[in-house]
Amino acid sequence: MARLNVAVLISGRGSNLQALIDGCAASGFPAQIGLVISNTPDAAGLDRAQKAGIATHEVNHRDYSDREDFETALNQALTGAGIEFICLAGFMRLLTPGFVNRWKDRLINIHPSLLPAYKGLDTHTRVLADGVRFTGCTVHFVRAEMDHGPIIVQAAVPVHADDDEARLAARVLAAEHQCYPLALRMIADGRVSIADEIITIRGIDSPDTVLINPIIDC
Ligand code: GRF
Repeated sequence: MARLNVAVLISGRGSNLQALIDGCAASGFPAQIGLVISNTPDAAGLDRAQKAGIATHEVNHRDYSDREDFETALNQALTGAGIEFICLAGFMRLLTPGFVNRWKDRLINIHPSLLPAYKGLDTHTRVLADGVRFTGCTVHFVRAEMDHGPIIVQAAVPVHADDDEARLAARVLAAEHQCYPLALRMIADGRVSIADEIITIRGIDSPDTVLINPIIDC
């Protein structure tokens, strides 16, 4: 069967892009990355794509007078490469409702919190300030409202007493790298359906284990 032709949109480091590249390299993986687009010319993720032999394209938002023009250029690059599906991976531009609706149900994002908690930036700072015991990450379909949309995969990540932002971010990021390829695989396999904005995934189980934080040794 033909593999789903995916574009990954990035703005920076690209560690989630790398996780998707590595995932797609697995035998029988039902998707391939046909294009990586960055809106910042010096994004480190572009090197990762080039090393993997993936076509890259820069669409620098500073070169466009408004969001619509910027997104027209994005769409040209995407359709030119025959892209069927988009993964946002640290892409730091808000997309207009026009773009989001054009790609509806073919556009996903990863966010470093357990949505709908902690939308927006600086999630780990706010998690630490609130003293919550769990945070995590979420892969979701993109809707016009920021960090909102049907939830495909989540990972719960414990917060440790001695965490600072860097330690917590690293623990969440490791979970992100597991979740993103998993979500893409299930979608490309045709196992994911959306009804009334709720996801159903064919042939999956959920964990029975309850995770308690802290561990009480008594
Ligand atoms: C990740 O934490 C992702 O959840 C968020 O932006 C960060 C991107 O990191 N949307 P990277 O560029 O994939 O390393």
